[in-house]
Amino acid sequence: MFELIRRDGLARTGKLDTPHGPLETPALLPVVNPRLVTVPPRELYDTFGFRAIITNSYIIRNDPQLNPRAKAEGLHAMLDFPGVIMTDSGTFQSHMYGEVEVRNEDIVNFQRDIGSDIGTVLDIFTEPEWSKERTAQAVDVTMDRTVEAAGLKGGMLLAGVVQGSIYEDLREDCARRLALVDVDVHPIGGVVPLMEQYRFAELVDVIVASKKGLDPSRPVHLFGAGHPMLFALAALLGCDMFDSASYAKFARDDRFMFPEGTASLSDMKGIHCHCPACQSHTHQEIVAMKPAERTALIARHNLWASLEEVQRVRRAILEGDLWELVERRCRAHPSLLSALRRVGKHQEYLERFEPLSRDNSLLYTGPETLERPVFLRYEKRFLERYKYPDTEVMVAFEEAGKPYARHYARQMAEVLESCDSHFFVASPIGAVPIELDEMYPVAQSLFPDPPDEETKERIREQMEHMSHEQTYSLGVAWDGQATIDTLNMMCSKPPSFDIDLARVRAVSDYQFGKGAAEVLLNGRVELKKSETTGKIRNVLVDGEHILSMRANDGFFTLRPPGAVRLKSGFAAPRLRVTVKDDSVPFNREGKNVFCTFVRECDPEVRPMDEVMVVNEKDELVALGRAILTREEMFSFRTGIAVKVREGIKL
Ligand code: GUN
Ligand code: ZN
Repeated sequence: MFELIRRDGLARTGKLDTPHGPLETPALLPVVNPRLVTVPPRELYDTFGFRAIITNSYIIRNDPQLNPRAKAEGLHAMLDFPGVIMTDSGTFQSHMYGEVEVRNEDIVNFQRDIGSDIGTVLDIFTEPEWSKERTAQAVDVTMDRTVEAAGLKGGMLLAGVVQGSIYEDLREDCARRLALVDVDVHPIGGVVPLMEQYRFAELVDVIVASKKGLDPSRPVHLFGAGHPMLFALAALLGCDMFDSASYAKFARDDRFMFPEGTASLSDMKGIHCHCPACQSHTHQEIVAMKPAERTALIARHNLWASLEEVQRVRRAILEGDLWELVERRCRAHPSLLSALRRVGKHQEYLERFEPLSRDNSLLYTGPETLERPVFLRYEKRFLERYKYPDTEVMVAFEEAGKPYARHYARQMAEVLESCDSHFFVASPIGAVPIELDEMYPVAQSLFPDPPDEETKERIREQMEHMSHEQTYSLGVAWDGQATIDTLNMMCSKPPSFDIDLARVRAVSDYQFGKGAAEVLLNGRVELKKSETTGKIRNVLVDGEHILSMRANDGFFTLRPPGAVRLKSGFAAPRLRVTVKDDSVPFNREGKNVFCTFVRECDPEVRPMDEVMVVNEKDELVALGRAILTREEMFSFRTGIAVKVREGIKL
């Protein structure tokens, strides 16, 4: 069973139960060639701290010495590795070297019998240059074999490989079919040629297509992804496991792997690495080493570099800066930059998993940043949900210091002395009404000054969209005293804009949906502000505390009277997670909602969204934040679906 612990978009940290204990993801599994050990498994475990490795059952099975030992001692004793051992099936060998004549049934049984923790089906490796027909036939065979293997796996976890070459529809279809079979891990296979040829943009398409069809509660392994420069990108797209033979292969060619790319010893002028392998050696020493000794050192360097990058990725998932990490890593090579740009094409799919907010600031790293799903979200929600205030004019400011209302306080006050005006900021996030200036990611994003051409273009586009929708009699770009003079001549109505009320309205609609402000704020509205920051803290309507505004992301947490109002305006399943009866008493006590108890969920719920937990009669049970999307809630058999903040007792 796989449990999602923390997530950022499609990336996740998790825990996979195996016969040799839990495996924490993201995880890198070094490839151990049982006939050619570069770094002994025991050292991988004790010194490096790897908790899982992958080896090849086909090689073991065909080796006259290893075969009987594996059967007698078991894989773990034979390799002297106490952690998780995954085995591959020989697909790759048969494909690359044409050697194999083994049957799926035999190799699966063999993997199980030697005590593999995660065995692999004998899938058919689909090459990127294959025709669609040939690929589709191969996928069918892989599927038949997967079904067969699932019946043989016993206590072993089984890896069912997604194939389908570069055909996105075949990948997605294969993934969907695999999701129906009783397997435990999903490697994405047939991608080694894409990686070797630096066809990373196609790799992005392949991963996304596979993810679309797979069951989200199963970990995804990117077969043969062993270069640290790829880990962040692959994790961002939802890959949980990697394996690497590259550390040893590259070492044999005197090549050092870094997250920034590969460096050949012959090109290097020095060793600027502080990993335990390189630390006590000079460049000259390494050059002067005997080949075997040098390979041993570089292989260890490559492992340290890979391990460190996996840990960096894990930290990024926890801290919320994975996008920044990916964008930086993808500047290591133009082909990676192409891949990053390709990620932008999948914005709409990624948006479904995009959290409502993050703890970390959004840092602009280049034009590709504008393709992050958070920008699409803002654009869509603004256009669909924003209700313009009923003022006579609108003044547009340039992007500036944040929060905007504080930065432009003096200018706004001057305009409002004589004029019924509203205010927008022409921001890279989009056209931002001044009252949304504290909401994620508006306040929490940083852009270079001056903006680059792509950013200027986006700002122009977004402001133009807005200009088609708005209802002001006049809109002007702020230009100091000249603007005041113009407005003094044109304006006839007294000022009516109340930024506090507008803020509560705009955030309500943005967060909960069009019309939310209407139902929430119907009555006498009172706002309580923080004495230290002056920010809105609590919203009361007719004396009832309905909402609290979070200082860090500018969104609301719901209070029970607010939920009652929201429920009346939005029919089930909107904004709700419906739980089964046996969960209800626990949630009323403030306990979290676990996946297995979810009966229904609003498909529009995004991670970290504020949701109402209701029973099957649609009565309020608790309030909290969704951790998962609807599909994820249904598919995970363990883990938290909603982090409950407040139970509602009867
Ligand atoms: N190793 C690298 N690629 C693959 C693949 O597509 N299938 C299997 N079984 N192993 C691999
Ligand atoms: Zn090193």
